[in-house]
Amino acid sequence: MTPDPWRKAPLIAGNWKMHKTPAEARGLVRSLLGQLAAEPAAEVLLLPPFTALEAVVEELGGDTRVRVGAQNCHHEAAGAFTGEISAPMLAPLCDYVLVGHSERRHLMGESDNVVRRKLDAVLVAGLLPVLAVGETAAERSAGVTEAVVERQARAGLEGLAIGEIGRCTVAYEPVWAIGTGATATPDDAAAAAAVIHRVVAELSSGEVEVRVLYGGSVTPANAASLLSAPGVRGALVGGASLRADEFAGIVAAAG
Ligand code: PGA
Repeated sequence: MTPDPWRKAPLIAGNWKMHKTPAEARGLVRSLLGQLAAEPAAEVLLLPPFTALEAVVEELGGDTRVRVGAQNCHHEAAGAFTGEISAPMLAPLCDYVLVGHSERRHLMGESDNVVRRKLDAVLVAGLLPVLAVGETAAERSAGVTEAVVERQARAGLEGLAIGEIGRCTVAYEPVWAIGTGATATPDDAAAAAAVIHRVVAELSSGEVEVRVLYGGSVTPANAASLLSAPGVRGALVGGASLRADEFAGIVAAAG
């Protein structure tokens, strides 16, 4: 599968987490649209909570500068899973689904196996997965960062068809850097990205490359240096994506 041309651009994704009512989401989208360049050099992706997805899509009004995704989904397509949302339910509303965010892995107990089932469900629904991987502070101190990144990337992608791997984006997010103000160095990000690229090359016999994003306390001040790390092709932004000026600043830094 030949990726669409826009998939070659860096991807700047804003993970709003559990923030924003539909009305607040509309306001944030309006101010973001006012601050983005007419033709941003990056692909821009918003990941609002489920309850604001429709409002965000409506407020974008077909503006092609911004795409929409969900932060999570259930691995089954339908059934008796009270409180859950499936990939086919998201398909009419968005293009992307984030799977394996560390808050889901560590706060909600999602295993590599569950994350993989979700990624499969996203692909089956015709959506584009963003697979998040990354080591905890304890794993980093134990010197197993690269082993953890490799294990999570492999668990997420092994056995997929080459075309399916080509539809994936992988976000390297060191858990200790998320929401803490601490960031990995560009060298740390490059080292993790190299592991991910190596796994993808091996699993796809060198046929495809994926975009690797860095996430963890990305701000307008540090975005340019993190985005220039070799092998890094975008950012997954949490806190700073809740402010239109900061998020637009990070998008501009990707240009
Ligand atoms: P942060 O979050 O930018 O607030 O550190 C990143 C993320 O969790 O995706």
